Amino acid sequence: MAEKNKREMFSTGFAVFFATLGSAVGLGNIWKFPYLIGTNGGGAFLLVYLLCVILVGIPIMACEFYIGRKSRKNAVGAFKKLDAAKGWKTIGFMGTATAFLIAFFYSCVAGWVYSYVFKAIKGDFVGVTSSTASTKFMSTLVGPLSPIVWQFIVLGIVSIILIAGVKNGIERITKTLMPVLFILIIICAVRSLTLPGASQGLNFLFHVDFSQLTGPVILAALGLAFFKLSLGMGTMITYGSYFTTDNNMIATSAKVAISDSLISILAGIAIFPAVFSFGLKPSEGPGLLFMTIPLVFSKIPFGSILLVAFFFLSAIAATTALISMVQVPVAYFTEEKGMGRTKAVLFTTSIMMVVGILATLSAHPTSALANIHIIGERGFFDSFDYLSSNILLPIGGLLIAVYVGYFTKKEDFKLELSNQGTLNNALVLDVIYVFIKFVSPFLLIIVFLNSIGIFKF
Ligand code: TRP
Repeated sequence: MAEKNKREMFSTGFAVFFATLGSAVGLGNIWKFPYLIGTNGGGAFLLVYLLCVILVGIPIMACEFYIGRKSRKNAVGAFKKLDAAKGWKTIGFMGTATAFLIAFFYSCVAGWVYSYVFKAIKGDFVGVTSSTASTKFMSTLVGPLSPIVWQFIVLGIVSIILIAGVKNGIERITKTLMPVLFILIIICAVRSLTLPGASQGLNFLFHVDFSQLTGPVILAALGLAFFKLSLGMGTMITYGSYFTTDNNMIATSAKVAISDSLISILAGIAIFPAVFSFGLKPSEGPGLLFMTIPLVFSKIPFGSILLVAFFFLSAIAATTALISMVQVPVAYFTEEKGMGRTKAVLFTTSIMMVVGILATLSAHPTSALANIHIIGERGFFDSFDYLSSNILLPIGGLLIAVYVGYFTKKEDFKLELSNQGTLNNALVLDVIYVFIKFVSPFLLIIVFLNSIGIFKF
């Protein structure tokens, strides 16, 4: 984006909204959200997730936008520019490390999506049943060679887009294609709802059973809120740095959070009725999306073409989200370490390819490296996911909230977020400020203490 000396900016509020949504919407909505709802017991998890988005996600997104637009810098440089004490740069370093951890497994799942595009084109899913759907998924991820090749293809494409500087072109294409993905998810949801036994799926998704709520479940919902909204590692600081001066950043935060949650819930409505109708288990895990979607489209006229479109558009959404992630280390290496752009991109994606193999070879209990346990019972894939989403992103978010709430002048915050007093939003700002200072950080601390067993509720 900022290729020349002069930093570029998003041209309009509309562009700001779509670019930010482009980072937020990705595999998190269609893959991670449904599978975590499935493994964490349904409606109660959804409720806690939505509370986390409102009480923690929106305020922290506003903080990241504030830091980014005020400094007009990358995640590390921003804290230097804002005259923060040296230690706050740590947020930027942590973010860079987190970007790697997420990319290790994200590129693996994106590889499965790419391979599904080709399987769908070849007609592999014609006449699919629930048992063939799961064998197809198993053969996709157990490999061992093909999932690694697909992962490399994904990271290769990401590198080419970043080096060739065609990111803006890609974003323009995304902007037109994302509404199409949205429509496909709606078609899928409508069909899923009309399958026999659909109500059981809806009940699973929306019925709140409080007995399901344990410390680890609440932590998982919190981690998902950060992952979904690309928060806690500097992506939104970087995006904020490109925002126009007249953007109402509180409104943007709320709009992005609401649209993103809506897309996730629709994906849930597309998946869960089908899970029950076809006799699959909601707790299937990471394969849930890949098993149910081909089944739903097999029951729709022109379903095989729509299935290709669905996975193709999902591949694009995954790629743009991955680009926003890879850009955090690349911006750090180029802007702070003086590395050339091409070198920075190749360096970053090569590490992601090499270490990413560990994730790919441990994604399923039958995979080659599945028996190596890293954090508790978790293998590489789950450990990268757990450490980044459930630990590092919330800690990054906590530090961002503490920085803005306790180490920034309230006047500066209000001035920037009211566009130097031109927006009439004093009341909203007061409320958000209270959240940033007193609500979000304490909720984060309580959830942490609870999940490590220090504080029980
Ligand atoms: N939010 C994206 C998704 O749901 C993933 C993502 C992109 C991300 N950039 C990020 C997650 C930065 C955490 C931090 O798929």
